[in-house]
Amino acid sequence: MRRLRVGVLISGRGSNLQALIGACAAETYPAEIVLVISNRAGAPGLRLAAAAGIRAAVVPHRDRRAFADAAQRLLLEQNVELISLAGFMRILDTDFVEMWRDRMVNIHPSLLPAFRGLHAQRRALEAGVRFAGCTVHFVRPELDTGPIIGQAVVAVHPDDDESALSARILAVEHRLYPLALRLIAEGRVRVVAERVEVMNAEVPLAAVLNPPDCTGEALASFPA
Ligand code: GAR
Repeated sequence: MRRLRVGVLISGRGSNLQALIGACAAETYPAEIVLVISNRAGAPGLRLAAAAGIRAAVVPHRDRRAFADAAQRLLLEQNVELISLAGFMRILDTDFVEMWRDRMVNIHPSLLPAFRGLHAQRRALEAGVRFAGCTVHFVRPELDTGPIIGQAVVAVHPDDDESALSARILAVEHRLYPLALRLIAEGRVRVVAERVEVMNAEVPLAAVLNPPDCTGEALASFPA
């Protein structure tokens, strides 16, 4: 089976990288990670790459153009076909983004287009939303924008703090990212007029309510 050659860009922990490494370990998974680039030398994700035997490089982010030039050289050397941003926390050079148009994806911990940028989970709590989640999308030059490939939703609980909500979202990030990458690698994803079409995907016909539709005792004890 031909496998899509993926380069992953990270800045830190690398739990999404680890989820992708785990997915790629299956023989039937149609993608492989051939390169990891971190802009930070101390990123824990570098150790995950090393443990999986994946070539890894540190490219310090002095300025956008220098980073893009150095990263591009490494990506071409490894014949990378798709870039996956996994907790990469720098804004990329516009020419670099255009060069990888529809060949670079990102994961963001919100239901875009809501809560772009930093501290998405904290701002979701502050806004009082009842659902939060994550988005995998193709990358465009403007921060956290681009055609949406997939989203995963979690309920916000009344007693959530930032760390509880972040952990719940992270757990579904780890499921959504490998799925999105697989769909791309299978050639089932295409961008038409800045929207993504996914071929042969079944969407469940379900509505989820939060707060749930409670009756009986739960409702009776609710203060008038
Ligand atoms: C993840 O929650 C990811 O969605 C987020 O950073 C975290 C990285 O965790 N990315 C962004 O906010 C990008 N705008 P990880 O290093 O453990 O994968």
